[in-house]
Amino acid sequence: MLVALQIQEVQRQSDPGVSRFVKAAKTDEVNPGTCISAKLEGNFIGIHNVNGKYYAVNNICPHVGGVLHAGQLENDVIVCPIHQWKFDVKTGRCIWPGKCGIATYPVKVDSGYIFIDINSPSQPIPHNPIRVYHTKPKRRATP
Ligand code: FES
Repeated sequence: MLVALQIQEVQRQSDPGVSRFVKAAKTDEVNPGTCISAKLEGNFIGIHNVNGKYYAVNNICPHVGGVLHAGQLENDVIVCPIHQWKFDVKTGRCIWPGKCGIATYPVKVDSGYIFIDINSPSQPIPHNPIRVYHTKPKRRATP
């Protein structure tokens, strides 16, 4: 009976519809204008401090996998260190070149710690390299 209850609890905690805030970092570890990374139960998350407010996003660039917290945080824009794609840290939307995004996670702060709801990432537009890079070549004029 106890094992069955434990299995139910594990299933409930991993249910994507149920919020589950996990302690990620101390607030004083992420100063304004900086970011750190955290690995929370298999989720690689970047934690960013914009003017004292904390944001959590997927830390992997959808382009070819740049680690976003290693890039720049310009106000509320994350700049990937590899090819400089830009993402709005608040929404995860790709500002440049656009047409994709990164997942954001709900964040709360309590007693000097940052907690991230790992069960509730947003669902960004997935990166589609065909839309970004492949355009039809112009037809050559036949002589
Ligand atoms: S890997 Fe991030 S822009 Fe290319």
